[in-house]
Amino acid sequence: MKNRAVRFGVVLGGAMVVLTSCGSSKSPSMIDSKGNEAKHIAGVWWLMFTLAAAVYVVVAGFIVYAIRRRHSDQQEPQSDQADTGAQRFDDRMIVWGGVAVPLVILLVLAVVTVRTTDALRRPERNALRVEVVGKRWWWAVTYPTARFTTANEVHLPAGRPIELGLTSDNVIHSFWVPQLAGKLDMIPGQRNILRIRASAPGVYEGLCAEFCGVQHAHMMFTVIVQTAGDFDRWLAQRSQPPLEPASESAAQGAVAFNRLPCAGCHTIAGTQANGTLGPELTDIASRRDLGAGTVTNDPENLARWITDAPSLKPGALMPPIAMTGSEVQSIVAYLESLK
Ligand code: CUA
Repeated sequence: MKNRAVRFGVVLGGAMVVLTSCGSSKSPSMIDSKGNEAKHIAGVWWLMFTLAAAVYVVVAGFIVYAIRRRHSDQQEPQSDQADTGAQRFDDRMIVWGGVAVPLVILLVLAVVTVRTTDALRRPERNALRVEVVGKRWWWAVTYPTARFTTANEVHLPAGRPIELGLTSDNVIHSFWVPQLAGKLDMIPGQRNILRIRASAPGVYEGLCAEFCGVQHAHMMFTVIVQTAGDFDRWLAQRSQPPLEPASESAAQGAVAFNRLPCAGCHTIAGTQANGTLGPELTDIASRRDLGAGTVTNDPENLARWITDAPSLKPGALMPPIAMTGSEVQSIVAYLESLK
């Protein structure tokens, strides 16, 4: 009976190890690495996993062996000589299995970890600087060379070294794109540097990895890695102020935007709107989501967001704003024109 329970435990443990290592393909997995830094980290992960699995198999084997031995000892007691032999074997196992092997394993892991951390921090020349500030609960993303700021989306060129300057102006957040690099805290009054070199174009999910308040779970972002050429074109286009509203409705929206409280908190390049409390809206129409990954950016959600953001994201700092139906419509038309 005991024997079966132990075997069951061994199989269950093994199954759990396998299951927890297979994530769903939708959620970002740090072992599905798409960048230089993430590859380093995944390497350490696989080494730790392999060593842990080997230790697990050996220990489980010894447990099964010990139970069998006790079982046979009970049925036919051993001679004194055999008992002393078994005792000597046990002592040797404690020295090797309990002290020597764990020491070697921990030493190997320590050396590999220190070397990997070193490699992740090594500065690269000609790195593209991008500054990200953790807000409640969204991300302000600035490209200092282009003097352009956006929110909740980080465009990066593939193959080029990136230096992300991370900070916060409120509480501590943590910037994490599992497929590209390790997580790094964003601390008020301190600029931490995260280095990334994405290997291929693609869209990667990012998230806040440090509990930061009521909407921590809705503090996501998207990293869009483009070819170097596409990225340069994107940045050049973004550096220009948006075009004048083309439609009548959008033009009315621009007027309403500046009359209502919107412009006090948001900036739209090339207009009088220059608030800094909320996300910059210069390219709002081109972004995929609203509220840092809370809902898809479509006209319906946008209308609901601008009138009552807390109904979509409880705790969002933008208060409900009273406006007429036509004001909502025209402001949505205006924001939809900002690409
Ligand atoms: Cu920001 Cu959690």
